[in-house]
Amino acid sequence: MSSLLSCFGCCGDSEEINTPSANRNAEREAAGTKNEQQQKKVASATVEKEATLEKQKKEAAPDQSRRFKVLIIYYTTYGHIKKLADLVKEGLEKSGNCDIELFQVPETLPEEVLKLLGAPPKPEDPILTFEQHNKLAEADGIIFGFPTRFGAICAQMKAFFDSLGHLWQKGSLNGKLASFFFSTGTQGGGQETTAWTAISQLAHLGLLYVPSGYTFGSEMFSFEEPHGGSPYGPGTFAGADGSRQPSPYEMQYAEHLGKYFATVIRRFH
Ligand SMILES: Cc1cc2nc3c(=O)[nH]c(=O)nc-3n(C[C@H](O)[C@H](O)[C@H](O)COP(=O)(O)O)c2cc1C
Repeated sequence: MSSLLSCFGCCGDSEEINTPSANRNAEREAAGTKNEQQQKKVASATVEKEATLEKQKKEAAPDQSRRFKVLIIYYTTYGHIKKLADLVKEGLEKSGNCDIELFQVPETLPEEVLKLLGAPPKPEDPILTFEQHNKLAEADGIIFGFPTRFGAICAQMKAFFDSLGHLWQKGSLNGKLASFFFSTGTQGGGQETTAWTAISQLAHLGLLYVPSGYTFGSEMFSFEEPHGGSPYGPGTFAGADGSRQPSPYEMQYAEHLGKYFATVIRRFH
C-alpha cells in the first residue's frame, strides 16, 4: 500500500503495482504488432490480387498481334463465285491479321458436260487435293463459296464436304469458325435454301457458323434494286443465262464478309 501511494505505478519500482501496467503495455505492443502484421498481410494480398487481375485482363484481351489462318474454298462454273471469293479475300486482307489461302474444290463433272454447259476455263487458284486436307485442320477459319444447283449447294461442294469424313471422324474441325457466300441464277432460285443446305454441312463437321446477320448495314433493307445476299451471307444473281455480273452492292457485301469474319475471329480467340 505504501508503495502504491509513493509511486502510483508509474516508476516501475514496485512489482506489485507495475505488473498490470506492464502487461497492458505488452498487450498493446503485441496488438500493435499483430495489427501491423495483419495490415502487411492484407496489403500483400491486395498487391497479389491486383497482379492476378492484371494478368487475367491481359489474358482475356485479344492479342492484337496474333495472326489467323483463313481458307477460302470455292467452286465456280461461270466465274461469279470466283469474283466474290476475291473480294472476300480482299476484306480479310484489309483486316491485316489474317493469312489467307484461296482454293477451288475438285470438279466432278466430265469435260463433255462442262462443254455442254458452256463453262469457261477454270480460274487459276489451286485445287485443294485430298493430301492437302490437313490445311483445314490447321486453319482458324474457313469460308466456303458455291453456286446453287436446284436450290441446294452444288454437287462439287457437296462432294468436297463428303470427302472430309476422315476429319469429321477425328473431330479436327470442331470449334473452328466458318462462313459462306453463294450465287443463284434467279431471285427465287435458292438464295436462302442454298444457305440452309450449307448450314447442315457445317453443323455435322462441328464448324461454328458465323452468319453476317445485318452487319452490312441499312442497305440490306433496301428495295431500290434487286440484290443477292441475306443475313446468311453475301450472294449474287448470275441471271438466267449467266450474263449478269455481281452488282456494286453484292461486291461490297462480299468484301464486308471478309472484314467481319476477321473481326469475329480475333474476338473469338
Ligand atoms: C444444273 C444447274 C442447276 C441450277 N439450278 C439453279 C437453281 O435451282 N436456282 C437458280 O437460281 N439457279 C440455278 N442454276 C444457275 C446457277 O446457280 C448459276 O449459274 C450460278 O449461280 C453462277 O455461279 P458461277 O458463275 O460461280 O458458276 C443452275 C445451274 C445449273 C448448271
